[in-house]
Amino acid sequence: MKEYILGIESSCDETSVAICDLEGKLYANIVSSQIATHSKYGGVMPEMASRLHIENINYVLKAALYDAKLDFKDLAAVAVTTGPGLIGALHVGLQAAKALSLALDIPLIPIHHLVAHIYASSYEKELRFPCLSLVVSGGHTELVYMPKEFAFEILGSTQDDAIGEAYDKVARILGLGYPGGPKIDQAAKLGKSTYKLPKPHTENPYNVSYSGLKTYINNLVHNAKQKGEEIRINDLCASFQKRAIDMLVEKLILALKIRPVEQIVIAGGVAANSYLREQVLLAVKKEYPNIEVVLPPLWFCGDNAAMVAKLGGRLYKRQFFADLSLGVFPSWSILDYGVLKDE
Ligand code: KG4
Ligand code: ZN
Repeated sequence: MKEYILGIESSCDETSVAICDLEGKLYANIVSSQIATHSKYGGVMPEMASRLHIENINYVLKAALYDAKLDFKDLAAVAVTTGPGLIGALHVGLQAAKALSLALDIPLIPIHHLVAHIYASSYEKELRFPCLSLVVSGGHTELVYMPKEFAFEILGSTQDDAIGEAYDKVARILGLGYPGGPKIDQAAKLGKSTYKLPKPHTENPYNVSYSGLKTYINNLVHNAKQKGEEIRINDLCASFQKRAIDMLVEKLILALKIRPVEQIVIAGGVAANSYLREQVLLAVKKEYPNIEVVLPPLWFCGDNAAMVAKLGGRLYKRQFFADLSLGVFPSWSILDYGVLKDE
Protein backbone atom coordinates (compact mmCIF):
# COMPACT_ATOMS: atom_id res chain seq x y z
CA MET A 1 0.00 0.00 0.00
CA LYS A 2 1.32 3.42 -0.93
CA GLU A 3 0.67 5.40 2.20
CA TYR A 4 3.76 7.42 2.99
CA ILE A 5 4.77 10.98 2.11
CA LEU A 6 8.42 11.77 1.54
CA GLY A 7 9.48 15.35 2.35
CA ILE A 8 12.59 17.12 1.05
CA GLU A 9 14.06 20.36 2.47
CA SER A 10 17.08 22.14 0.97
CA SER A 11 16.18 25.84 1.09
CA CYS A 12 19.24 27.01 3.03
CA ASP A 13 22.02 25.13 4.81
CA GLU A 14 20.31 21.90 5.87
CA THR A 15 19.80 18.94 3.54
CA SER A 16 16.92 16.98 5.00
CA VAL A 17 14.60 14.13 4.02
CA ALA A 18 11.73 12.86 6.17
CA ILE A 19 8.92 10.34 5.87
CA CYS A 20 5.43 10.57 7.39
CA ASP A 21 2.38 8.38 6.99
CA LEU A 22 -0.87 9.90 5.75
CA GLU A 23 -1.97 10.59 9.32
CA GLY A 24 1.16 12.68 9.89
CA LYS A 25 3.07 10.19 12.05
CA LEU A 26 6.80 10.62 11.59
CA TYR A 27 8.89 7.60 10.56
CA ALA A 28 12.21 9.21 9.69
CA ASN A 29 13.80 12.65 9.69
CA ILE A 30 17.41 12.89 8.56
CA VAL A 31 19.03 16.32 8.76
CA SER A 32 22.50 16.90 7.37
CA SER A 33 23.68 20.31 8.52
CA GLN A 34 26.27 22.34 6.62
CA ILE A 35 26.90 24.68 9.55
CA ALA A 36 30.45 23.42 10.17
CA THR A 37 31.42 24.46 6.63
CA HIS A 38 29.62 27.82 6.52
CA SER A 39 30.76 28.87 9.99
CA LYS A 40 34.33 29.13 8.63
CA TYR A 41 33.09 32.01 6.47
CA GLY A 42 30.88 33.66 9.09
CA GLY A 43 27.61 33.00 7.22
CA VAL A 44 25.94 30.86 4.57
CA MET A 45 27.81 30.83 1.23
CA PRO A 46 25.06 30.17 -1.36
CA GLU A 47 27.27 28.43 -3.95
CA MET A 48 28.79 26.19 -1.32
CA ALA A 49 25.30 25.38 0.01
CA SER A 50 24.11 24.18 -3.43
CA ARG A 51 27.22 22.07 -3.92
CA LEU A 52 26.90 20.41 -0.52
CA HIS A 53 23.18 19.72 -1.10
CA ILE A 54 24.11 17.92 -4.35
CA GLU A 55 26.77 15.88 -2.58
CA ASN A 56 24.49 14.96 0.34
CA ILE A 57 20.98 14.54 -0.99
CA ASN A 58 21.21 10.92 -2.17
CA TYR A 59 22.79 9.77 1.10
CA VAL A 60 20.17 11.60 3.15
CA LEU A 61 17.37 10.09 1.02
CA LYS A 62 18.78 6.60 1.42
CA ALA A 63 19.22 7.06 5.17
CA ALA A 64 15.60 8.24 5.58
CA LEU A 65 14.20 5.19 3.76
CA TYR A 66 16.51 2.94 5.79
CA ASP A 67 15.45 4.56 9.09
CA ALA A 68 11.76 4.24 8.23
CA LYS A 69 12.30 0.65 7.01
CA LEU A 70 10.51 1.54 3.80
CA ASP A 71 11.10 1.24 0.10
CA PHE A 72 10.45 3.64 -2.82
CA LYS A 73 7.36 1.64 -3.73
CA ASP A 74 5.73 2.60 -0.39
CA LEU A 75 5.69 6.29 -1.26
CA ALA A 76 2.37 7.92 -2.16
CA ALA A 77 3.79 11.37 -2.95
CA VAL A 78 6.86 13.56 -2.67
CA ALA A 79 6.65 16.99 -1.04
CA VAL A 80 9.45 19.50 -1.54
CA THR A 81 10.28 23.02 -0.35
CA THR A 82 10.13 25.26 -3.42
CA GLY A 83 10.60 28.62 -1.66
CA PRO A 84 11.42 30.99 -0.19
CA GLY A 85 15.14 30.31 0.05
CA LEU A 86 18.42 30.25 -1.87
CA ILE A 87 17.75 29.64 -5.55
CA GLY A 88 20.48 27.07 -6.21
CA ALA A 89 19.84 25.26 -2.93
CA LEU A 90 16.09 25.03 -3.61
CA HIS A 91 16.75 23.61 -7.08
CA VAL A 92 18.70 20.66 -5.71
CA GLY A 93 15.73 19.51 -3.61
CA LEU A 94 13.27 20.20 -6.40
CA GLN A 95 15.23 18.23 -9.02
CA ALA A 96 15.52 15.26 -6.64
CA ALA A 97 11.77 15.44 -5.99
CA LYS A 98 10.96 15.62 -9.70
CA ALA A 99 13.14 12.60 -10.40
CA LEU A 100 11.26 10.61 -7.74
CA SER A 101 7.87 11.84 -8.96
CA LEU A 102 8.65 10.83 -12.53
CA ALA A 103 10.33 7.51 -11.78
CA LEU A 104 7.72 6.36 -9.24
CA ASP A 105 4.75 7.99 -10.95
CA ILE A 106 3.65 9.75 -7.76
CA PRO A 107 2.37 13.33 -7.24
CA LEU A 108 4.69 16.25 -6.57
CA ILE A 109 3.61 18.63 -3.76
CA PRO A 110 5.10 22.17 -3.58
CA ILE A 111 5.83 23.29 -0.02
CA HIS A 112 6.15 26.88 1.21
CA HIS A 113 8.99 26.94 3.74
CA LEU A 114 7.30 29.32 6.19
CA VAL A 115 3.99 27.48 6.08
CA ALA A 116 5.96 24.30 6.85
CA HIS A 117 7.56 26.04 9.86
CA ILE A 118 4.06 26.98 11.09
CA TYR A 119 2.74 23.43 10.58
CA ALA A 120 5.78 22.00 12.44
CA SER A 121 3.89 22.98 15.59
CA SER A 122 1.24 20.38 14.76
CA TYR A 123 3.73 17.71 15.91
CA GLU A 124 3.20 19.27 19.34
CA LYS A 125 -0.49 20.27 19.14
CA GLU A 126 -3.10 20.36 16.37
CA LEU A 127 -3.50 23.83 14.90
CA ARG A 128 -6.67 25.58 16.00
CA PHE A 129 -8.16 28.50 14.14
CA PRO A 130 -8.23 31.45 14.15
CA CYS A 131 -4.53 31.34 14.86
CA LEU A 132 -1.76 33.94 15.09
CA SER A 133 1.68 32.81 14.11
CA LEU A 134 4.98 34.54 14.78
CA VAL A 135 7.38 33.33 12.10
CA VAL A 136 10.95 34.13 13.11
CA SER A 137 13.91 32.77 11.18
CA GLY A 138 17.16 33.71 9.49
CA GLY A 139 15.32 35.18 6.52
CA HIS A 140 11.88 36.14 7.87
CA THR A 141 10.10 37.95 10.68
CA GLU A 142 6.37 37.90 10.13
CA LEU A 143 3.22 38.11 12.19
CA VAL A 144 0.77 35.93 10.27
CA TYR A 145 -2.94 35.70 11.05
CA MET A 146 -4.73 32.53 9.88
CA PRO A 147 -8.55 32.75 10.12
CA LYS A 148 -8.73 29.17 8.82
CA GLU A 149 -6.47 26.47 7.40
CA PHE A 150 -4.24 27.80 4.57
CA ALA A 151 -5.68 31.35 4.72
CA PHE A 152 -3.02 33.94 5.52
CA GLU A 153 -2.91 37.63 6.37
CA ILE A 154 0.41 39.34 7.15
CA LEU A 155 -0.25 41.82 9.95
CA GLY A 156 3.35 42.91 10.39
CA SER A 157 6.88 42.10 9.33
CA THR A 158 10.41 43.43 9.55
CA GLN A 159 11.15 46.65 7.71
CA ASP A 160 14.75 45.60 7.11
CA ASP A 161 16.76 42.69 8.58
CA ALA A 162 15.09 39.49 9.74
CA ILE A 163 15.51 38.82 13.45
CA GLY A 164 17.75 35.74 12.90
CA GLU A 165 19.87 37.77 10.50
CA ALA A 166 20.23 40.49 13.17
CA TYR A 167 21.33 37.87 15.73
CA ASP A 168 23.88 36.50 13.24
CA LYS A 169 25.23 39.96 12.36
CA VAL A 170 25.52 41.13 15.98
CA ALA A 171 27.26 37.85 16.88
CA ARG A 172 29.71 38.47 14.06
CA ILE A 173 30.42 42.02 15.31
CA LEU A 174 31.10 40.55 18.76
CA GLY A 175 33.26 37.77 17.34
CA LEU A 176 30.98 35.01 18.63
CA GLY A 177 30.81 32.97 15.40
CA TYR A 178 28.01 31.58 13.22
CA PRO A 179 25.14 30.90 13.70
CA GLY A 180 24.83 33.77 16.14
CA GLY A 181 21.38 33.06 17.60
CA PRO A 182 22.32 30.24 19.97
CA LYS A 183 25.62 31.95 20.88
CA ILE A 184 23.91 35.23 21.89
CA ASP A 185 21.14 33.33 23.66
CA GLN A 186 23.76 31.52 25.79
CA ALA A 187 25.87 34.62 26.47
CA ALA A 188 22.77 36.64 27.42
CA LYS A 189 22.02 34.18 30.21
CA LEU A 190 25.36 35.09 31.80
CA GLY A 191 24.83 38.86 31.55
CA LYS A 192 22.49 41.68 32.54
CA SER A 193 20.66 44.07 30.26
CA THR A 194 22.68 47.14 31.28
CA TYR A 195 23.41 48.75 27.90
CA LYS A 196 20.90 51.38 26.80
CA LEU A 197 20.02 50.54 23.19
CA PRO A 198 17.76 52.52 20.84
CA LYS A 199 14.16 51.47 20.32
CA PRO A 200 13.29 51.53 16.60
CA HIS A 201 10.23 53.40 15.42
CA THR A 202 7.98 51.83 12.76
CA GLU A 203 5.12 53.38 10.78
CA ASN A 204 2.97 50.25 10.94
CA PRO A 205 2.50 49.47 14.66
CA TYR A 206 2.82 45.70 13.98
CA ASN A 207 6.15 45.99 12.14
CA VAL A 208 9.60 45.62 13.64
CA SER A 209 13.02 46.88 12.55
CA TYR A 210 16.49 45.58 13.38
CA SER A 211 19.04 47.30 11.19
CA GLY A 212 19.34 50.41 13.42
CA LEU A 213 20.00 48.23 16.44
CA LYS A 214 22.72 46.33 14.58
CA THR A 215 24.37 49.59 13.37
CA TYR A 216 24.23 51.06 16.88
CA ILE A 217 26.00 48.00 18.31
CA ASN A 218 28.55 48.07 15.49
CA ASN A 219 29.39 51.72 16.30
CA LEU A 220 29.46 51.05 20.03
CA VAL A 221 31.98 48.24 19.61
CA HIS A 222 34.05 50.19 17.09
CA ASN A 223 34.24 53.27 19.36
CA ALA A 224 35.10 51.18 22.41
CA LYS A 225 37.93 49.49 20.49
CA GLN A 226 39.31 52.85 19.38
CA LYS A 227 39.30 54.18 22.93
CA GLY A 228 40.67 50.92 24.34
CA GLU A 229 37.52 50.47 26.47
CA GLU A 230 36.21 47.08 27.49
CA ILE A 231 32.95 45.72 26.06
CA ARG A 232 31.00 43.58 28.49
CA ILE A 233 29.99 40.96 25.91
CA ASN A 234 27.50 39.05 28.06
CA ASP A 235 25.76 42.27 29.16
CA LEU A 236 25.64 43.54 25.60
CA CYS A 237 24.13 40.22 24.43
CA ALA A 238 21.53 40.40 27.21
CA SER A 239 20.69 44.01 26.25
CA PHE A 240 20.42 43.21 22.53
CA GLN A 241 18.32 40.10 23.18
CA LYS A 242 15.95 42.00 25.44
CA ARG A 243 15.49 44.82 22.94
CA ALA A 244 15.10 42.49 19.93
CA ILE A 245 12.64 40.09 21.56
CA ASP A 246 10.61 42.50 23.72
CA MET A 247 9.79 44.39 20.54
CA LEU A 248 8.37 41.24 18.93
CA VAL A 249 6.37 40.19 21.97
CA GLU A 250 4.92 43.70 22.26
CA LYS A 251 3.71 43.56 18.62
CA LEU A 252 2.29 40.08 19.10
CA ILE A 253 0.20 41.21 22.08
CA LEU A 254 -0.87 44.36 20.22
CA ALA A 255 -2.04 42.27 17.24
CA LEU A 256 -4.29 40.20 19.49
CA LYS A 257 -6.36 43.35 20.08
CA ILE A 258 -7.39 43.48 16.42
CA ARG A 259 -7.36 39.74 15.69
CA PRO A 260 -8.73 37.62 18.53
CA VAL A 261 -7.48 34.02 18.21
CA GLU A 262 -7.77 30.55 19.73
CA GLN A 263 -4.09 29.76 19.43
CA ILE A 264 -0.64 31.35 19.05
CA VAL A 265 2.12 29.47 17.25
CA ILE A 266 5.80 30.43 17.34
CA ALA A 267 7.71 29.09 14.33
CA GLY A 268 11.15 29.11 12.68
CA GLY A 269 14.78 28.90 13.82
CA VAL A 270 14.53 31.80 16.30
CA ALA A 271 11.61 30.00 18.03
CA ALA A 272 14.42 28.08 19.79
CA ASN A 273 15.36 31.27 21.66
CA SER A 274 14.94 30.72 25.39
CA TYR A 275 14.03 34.34 26.21
CA LEU A 276 11.44 34.53 23.40
CA ARG A 277 9.78 31.31 24.55
CA GLU A 278 9.66 32.52 28.16
CA GLN A 279 8.43 36.02 27.34
CA VAL A 280 5.66 34.91 24.96
CA LEU A 281 4.32 32.50 27.58
CA LEU A 282 4.47 35.16 30.30
CA ALA A 283 2.90 37.96 28.26
CA VAL A 284 0.06 35.85 26.86
CA LYS A 285 -0.69 34.32 30.25
CA LYS A 286 -0.91 37.82 31.73
CA GLU A 287 -2.98 39.47 28.99
CA TYR A 288 -4.94 36.61 27.38
CA PRO A 289 -4.87 33.57 29.69
CA ASN A 290 -7.38 31.66 27.57
CA ILE A 291 -5.28 31.63 24.42
CA GLU A 292 -3.22 28.48 23.88
CA VAL A 293 0.47 29.03 23.05
CA VAL A 294 2.22 26.32 21.03
CA LEU A 295 6.01 26.27 21.09
CA PRO A 296 7.63 23.75 18.76
CA PRO A 297 10.04 21.31 20.42
CA LEU A 298 13.60 22.65 20.17
CA TRP A 299 14.75 20.07 17.60
CA PHE A 300 11.92 21.28 15.33
CA CYS A 301 12.68 24.97 15.28
CA GLY A 302 15.51 24.86 12.75
CA ASP A 303 15.11 23.64 9.18
CA ASN A 304 14.05 20.02 8.78
CA ALA A 305 12.04 17.89 6.36
CA ALA A 306 9.72 16.50 9.05
CA MET A 307 7.69 19.70 8.77
CA VAL A 308 7.69 19.36 4.96
CA ALA A 309 6.44 15.76 5.05
CA LYS A 310 3.79 16.63 7.66
CA LEU A 311 2.43 19.54 5.62
CA GLY A 312 2.76 17.35 2.50
CA GLY A 313 0.32 14.86 4.05
CA ARG A 314 -2.33 17.55 4.54
CA LEU A 315 -1.88 18.81 1.02
CA TYR A 316 -1.98 15.27 -0.37
CA LYS A 317 -5.51 14.95 1.02
CA ARG A 318 -6.42 18.21 -0.72
CA GLN A 319 -4.72 17.01 -3.93
CA PHE A 320 -2.60 20.16 -4.05
CA PHE A 321 -0.22 18.84 -6.70
CA ALA A 322 2.13 20.41 -9.24
CA ASP A 323 3.32 19.07 -12.59
CA LEU A 324 6.92 18.64 -13.71
CA SER A 325 7.12 22.23 -14.98
CA LEU A 326 7.28 23.35 -11.32
CA GLY A 327 10.06 25.85 -10.57
CA VAL A 328 11.44 27.43 -7.41
CA PHE A 329 10.36 30.75 -5.86
CA PRO A 330 13.26 32.32 -3.90
CA SER A 331 11.13 35.23 -2.60
CA TRP A 332 7.76 33.48 -2.39
CA SER A 333 5.26 35.40 -0.23
CA ILE A 334 3.06 33.34 2.05
CA LEU A 335 0.12 35.23 0.49
CA ASP A 336 0.82 33.60 -2.88
CA TYR A 337 0.83 29.99 -1.72
CA GLY A 338 -2.51 29.44 -3.38
CA VAL A 339 -3.76 26.31 -1.63
CA LEU A 340 -7.26 27.83 -1.37
CA LYS A 341 -7.28 29.54 -4.78
CA ASP A 342 -10.11 27.36 -6.15
CA GLU A 343 -12.28 27.61 -3.03
O1 KG4 B 1 14.56 28.60 10.30
P1 KG4 B 1 16.04 28.57 10.25
O2 KG4 B 1 16.76 27.31 10.68
O3 KG4 B 1 16.55 28.91 8.81
C1 KG4 B 1 15.88 29.83 8.01
O4 KG4 B 1 14.85 29.46 7.41
O5 KG4 B 1 16.35 31.00 8.03
O6 KG4 B 1 16.58 29.80 11.14
C2 KG4 B 1 17.95 30.04 11.30
C3 KG4 B 1 18.12 31.26 12.21
C4 KG4 B 1 19.57 31.74 12.29
O7 KG4 B 1 19.62 33.12 12.04
C5 KG4 B 1 19.96 31.43 13.74
O8 KG4 B 1 20.93 32.32 14.28
C6 KG4 B 1 18.62 31.58 14.44
O9 KG4 B 1 17.70 30.98 13.55
N1 KG4 B 1 18.59 30.90 15.74
C7 KG4 B 1 18.41 31.55 16.92
C8 KG4 B 1 18.49 30.58 17.95
N2 KG4 B 1 18.72 29.35 17.35
C9 KG4 B 1 18.78 29.58 16.00
N3 KG4 B 1 18.19 32.85 17.17
C10 KG4 B 1 18.06 33.22 18.47
N4 KG4 B 1 18.13 32.35 19.50
C11 KG4 B 1 18.35 31.03 19.30
N5 KG4 B 1 18.43 30.18 20.34
ZN1 ZN C 1 13.63 27.99 8.08
